[in-house]
Amino acid sequence: MKIAIILGTRPEIIKMSPIIKECQHRKLDFFILHTNQHYSTNLDSIFFKELCLPHPQYNLQIGSGTHAEETGKMLIGIEKILKKENPNIILVEGDTNTVLAGALSAAKLRIKVGHVEAGLRSYFREMPEEINRILTDHLSDYLFTPTTQTKEILLREGISQERIFLTGNTIVDAVFQNLKIAEEKSQILKKIKLKKNNYLLLTVHRQENVDIRNRLNQIMSGIGKIYRKYNLPIIYPIHPRSSKMIKQFKIIIPDGVKIINSVGYLDFLNLEASSRLVLTDSGGVQEETCVLQVPCVTLRDNTERPETIEVGSNILAGVNPQKILQSTEFMLNKKKHWENPFGSGKSSLTILNIITHI
Ligand code: UD1
Ligand code: UDP
Repeated sequence: MKIAIILGTRPEIIKMSPIIKECQHRKLDFFILHTNQHYSTNLDSIFFKELCLPHPQYNLQIGSGTHAEETGKMLIGIEKILKKENPNIILVEGDTNTVLAGALSAAKLRIKVGHVEAGLRSYFREMPEEINRILTDHLSDYLFTPTTQTKEILLREGISQERIFLTGNTIVDAVFQNLKIAEEKSQILKKIKLKKNNYLLLTVHRQENVDIRNRLNQIMSGIGKIYRKYNLPIIYPIHPRSSKMIKQFKIIIPDGVKIINSVGYLDFLNLEASSRLVLTDSGGVQEETCVLQVPCVTLRDNTERPETIEVGSNILAGVNPQKILQSTEFMLNKKKHWENPFGSGKSSLTILNIITHI
């Protein structure tokens, strides 16, 4: 049994890390194929280092481009390696261009595809990730769903029950494995002079937010309102796509917002766990805040993680400035305790148990 783990971006490295570690622990025959969709140190190598992951055996060095450029180059590169290595199964995680390219290359070679985090739907096709998710799920032989809701979505789409496995989300494994280490090792609060529970954390990077001038402006205007009301510093570890678009659109950053380079996982977990509230358009951050019992305001009109809203950890604010302020007020004033719907932190073990019994 040979397993190929295909990954390419920050969230995939983080969410695959518990699976990679478990493969090492069980001495399984596996290799990592990195597309290098993400390549900047703070989106890539910092995570391999901090999470003590082995070097990928293959690195395609694809880098950035249009969707077709990224996906097309990946298909060509991945196919060559899969033909040479001939694994029994490939694993992909999430909804990026790397995930679609990995699943499609393998499916055409009749290599089994396992999709970690299957069944998520925003029902919003302006989001490139929605297209990647749907296609990847329908190409996959093993669909590892994080929740019962995501399992039901797949059943409704006609995917047969035998291919669907309810496993929880490996983000819980990653949080549980790293939170203590983050609290011990990360110096980020000291470094940027923050007091626990006395600041807000912001991440905005989605194409459908930051590549549209008006939406990005509205988000910043909402953030400005929050600072004027609460006078709490708002820390924004910025994704390179967002810094590029802020410069291009000449967006004015409101008072109170402190922009820092995007940070490694230990610093980010520490920043999240110690913040009073998080504003985000990230998928993984909606999940992590839910696990960490930190209130979350999502700067989007929809989410493929509705479980977070149902348990009460998250609210959809969209990008209207007044709505962003009201949603923040609501989340700051409500009770801070909810169930974590994403599993017990053993998803990676469950997924590997299933694969190794194929
Ligand atoms: C990608 C994923 C998105 C995921 C995000 C995680 C797709 C369609 N999108 O979005 O789902 O949430 O990763 O962070 O796969 N850039 C750098 N350095 C890098 C990578 C990117 O400077 O290492 C800049 C480049 O200007 C690039 C832009 O960011 O053009 C966008 O990069 P890309 O990988 O295409 O998409 P992300 O926005 O990172
Ligand atoms: N993250 C990080 N450093 C940062 C911002 C985010 O390590 O500066 C982590 C975060 O903890 C989460 C993941 O990156 O696990 C989320 O990735 P991202 O928001 O880029 O992608 P998405 O989840 O939206 O696909």
